[in-house]
Amino acid sequence: MCGIVGYIGKREKREFLLDGLRELEYRGYDSAGIAVLHQNEINYFKAGGKLDNLIEKTKDFRSIGFGLGIAHTRWATHGKPTEINAHPHWGEFSFVIHNGIIENYMEIKKELQSEGVVFLSQTDSEVIVHLFEKFISQNLTPQIAFEKTVQSLKGAFAVLLISKVASETIFFAKNAVPLILGKSSIDEIFFGSSDAPLIGFADEVTYLEDGTYGWANKEEIQIYKGSQKLKPVFKPLNTSKIYAQKDGFRFFMEKEIYEQSAVASETLMGRIKDDKVFLEELNGYDFNDIDEIKICACGTSYHAALTSSYLFERLAKIRCSVEIASEFRYKEPLLDKKTLFLVISQSGETADTLEALKMAKRAGLKTLSICNVDNSSIVRLSDATILTRAGIEKGVASTKAFATQVLSLWLLALHVAKFNNNISDEKCTSEIKAIRGIPAVLKVDEEIHEKLHRLSKRYLHGHGFFFIGRDIFFPLALEGALKLKEISYLHAEGYPAGEMKHGPIALADSTLFTVALMPQNMLYDKTKSNVEELSARDATILAISPKEFVLADDFIKTQPYEHPMSEFFEMMVITQLLALEISIRLGNDVDMPRNLAKSVTVE
Ligand code: G6P
Repeated sequence: MCGIVGYIGKREKREFLLDGLRELEYRGYDSAGIAVLHQNEINYFKAGGKLDNLIEKTKDFRSIGFGLGIAHTRWATHGKPTEINAHPHWGEFSFVIHNGIIENYMEIKKELQSEGVVFLSQTDSEVIVHLFEKFISQNLTPQIAFEKTVQSLKGAFAVLLISKVASETIFFAKNAVPLILGKSSIDEIFFGSSDAPLIGFADEVTYLEDGTYGWANKEEIQIYKGSQKLKPVFKPLNTSKIYAQKDGFRFFMEKEIYEQSAVASETLMGRIKDDKVFLEELNGYDFNDIDEIKICACGTSYHAALTSSYLFERLAKIRCSVEIASEFRYKEPLLDKKTLFLVISQSGETADTLEALKMAKRAGLKTLSICNVDNSSIVRLSDATILTRAGIEKGVASTKAFATQVLSLWLLALHVAKFNNNISDEKCTSEIKAIRGIPAVLKVDEEIHEKLHRLSKRYLHGHGFFFIGRDIFFPLALEGALKLKEISYLHAEGYPAGEMKHGPIALADSTLFTVALMPQNMLYDKTKSNVEELSARDATILAISPKEFVLADDFIKTQPYEHPMSEFFEMMVITQLLALEISIRLGNDVDMPRNLAKSVTVE
């Protein structure tokens, strides 16, 4: 996910901007750039790959005395992660950096091209700078030109723009993407996409509201919403860096749970248009000769794989099998060239998954990966990759990576369904409608979080947890149990609800805690009967459902969504928060649980 830093003042600009980008590295990126405006000259540098490349390129550049600068790390969405697509983008005399997506960029670009503007990059962002310069050429003031530019943009954006026509000013705009403005007692002005780069420099900050834009220079900070001038409210900035990186959350895992809505939007960005799925990465990828999909993965990624196996069969009507990578490697599997081999991995480095992929390649199978880390070993080895765009996940217990894996797999299932003509237009439209709603579903409901916090104290003892569900809610039960055991060290198992009576029900008593996933759109009555069987044996039931359930000891009421996948994602957040709250009460290190590693590169 992209990062933004901006500065006005006398400090050495290069160092401040690069240090600021370093603070944002954790968000993930694939190129970076800076532009510095000093004595009416603009110097700019861009580099693909890691920040070190940009540091090397700028090593002889210094900017002493009053001036301003903007800096950006880019996580590619529109256009490949090349140097030319890195920000800043420029026109004749202005430079811009942008996070988010300009939905109407094509319209604007075509119009500007018809007027003779030449575009250098494939990005949506470049339209901003050309549009601004077009308005300047119409003899508008820089302020009005910027205002008109912002008013022409549709979508999500955090924008910083500098120009020789206003050489002491940074223009900014913010809509649905974070942007923070700070100031110091020595007349400096700062911008950041989070407060991490500002810590230790800015004394106070204002978190810009959606729909605002304005400009800042030595003399003034002007912020507008529509035509109304706003009076910004500045708050003192916390001085702890680690606090800033966690955005005030107690643990990275908690922050990452809260981030899921935003990263799901990133996952979907540019991948749905006019009720159709567009997976640019699969251009030219032929599913004609494929009659089965085999998925290999480990841990949480394995649970995403299992979830998707229901989607591939149900939506795309294609056979799908799932294997734990460490099992697959040694079973002497029979591999058929008509099988597509799909691997799923957050890190792209998990040894067993990587080795399974190598085996499939040796056997001549077509391969595909779902991964969160570009340029990782798995990405480099696969024929094609769908990047999940979750940003760096710091908590060892995976949350947002899982959410974006499942979302990407759902898109892939629809892509395959459409490719093979196995889905009606109506069905596809209704699936896309549900997909579009997922970022909203993933917004954490504070009341539910508070309730889980209170409930968690009742679940610190006992002799174990069973998470139960049917269909796609079975892999979710597995994932819910894994989250809980990873960070609370309590014993938890996920089980298919209908299978409990074939053994585990022998464990049922009042200190056996059952977390029952009871969606209204997926086998509700069947699941309910299974939960009743457990309740009859005195198990303690925590029911999660949109429908009241009288036998529940504890009840979390969910939204009456119409699509089972919407219910899936809402219940996913609830199980994550339950694990988090129990673990915090037990005093555990949520982000770094004992014995676990984020990336397991040994078999
Ligand atoms: C480790 C992590 C898990 C993760 C698994 C697979 O065990 O602790 O959270 O699910 O590896 O990792 P991958 O990067 O391949 O998704």
